Amino acid sequence: LWQEFLQAKLERGSTVIALGGGVVGDLAGFAAATYLRGVPWIVVPTSLLAMVDSSLGGKTGIDLPQGKNLVGAFHPPRLVWVDPQVLDTLPEVEFQSGLAEVVKAGIIDDPHLFSLCAQGWETVNQQRDQLVNRAIAVKIGVIESDPYEKGRRAILNLGHTIGHALELVSHFRLSHGQAVAIGMVVETYLAEGIGLAQTGLAERIENVLKNLGLPWQVPDDLEIDFIIETMHFDKKRHRDSLRFALPVQLGEIKQGVQVDDKQLLVDVLRTCRYSPK
Ligand SMILES: NC(=O)c1ccc[n+]([C@@H]2O[C@H](COP(=O)([O-])OP(=O)(O)OC[C@H]3O[C@@H](n4cnc5c(N)ncnc54)[C@H](O)[C@@H]3O)[C@@H](O)[C@H]2O)c1
Repeated sequence: LWQEFLQAKLERGSTVIALGGGVVGDLAGFAAATYLRGVPWIVVPTSLLAMVDSSLGGKTGIDLPQGKNLVGAFHPPRLVWVDPQVLDTLPEVEFQSGLAEVVKAGIIDDPHLFSLCAQGWETVNQQRDQLVNRAIAVKIGVIESDPYEKGRRAILNLGHTIGHALELVSHFRLSHGQAVAIGMVVETYLAEGIGLAQTGLAERIENVLKNLGLPWQVPDDLEIDFIIETMHFDKKRHRDSLRFALPVQLGEIKQGVQVDDKQLLVDVLRTCRYSPK
């Protein structure tokens, strides 16, 4: 992209336009952040995940084989242009993947959004634009309160500490949204395990994801030890202890929860493992 920018004679005042899903946004945004020490960019997200999540908040970057988003920059776009109509051509499996982030927004800060998702596929399709709007509002509310992730913004990581590891360990066979869906269930069981959330919350979340056709179990071919080891590479690691954003109840997340009990993590991952009947 940098070479192409040079060939197209882009200058400091030029604007890069990223039109596409989260991969295009992350990559084009990072290229814009770093070309000539930063040129402006505009993002037109075309996938549900990009609309409600990746295009908002100015995080741009790329993955390394060792972990997700290890190279990147905060470079907010000048404009995020969302037109839900483009979702008409989005493959269903990609739409479902984005729904994981919509459900996450509901859990974090919009119980009504969560209950819309709980009504299932038909409601979700009928109320699609409302879902997009509400999920965007949740993310904007959080990032405006903490643009550079100094504190509260970490609540957006619900499901991601485990989700990122699952994405990597599955060699990206699990999409980001699918991995986050499973991650949210595992992390909610973890919250129940340490007494932060009341028993029953994980099952509630699990049922919503299940109804929307999202995975909720850790695939049985993924090694639990390898998942845990991979989590330690997560850039949010804090010395040797893992920190999570965990739900207390619908609409309330506690960030920076340190979990030192490795056995509990292993047990929870085992409980959430896919087991063919
Ligand atoms: N920067 C951030 O804050 C942030 C947050 C979350 C996720 N991400 C990143 O976003 C990426 C995932 O984004 P994604 O789910 O959009 O994946 P993606 O960009 O790979 O898009 C998914 C697929 O849908 C296709 N597509 C997109 N819009 C379409 C449309 N309107 N019609 C038909 N096909 C369409 C794409 O070509 C692609 O094949 C991951 O790499 C993840 O790490 C970044």
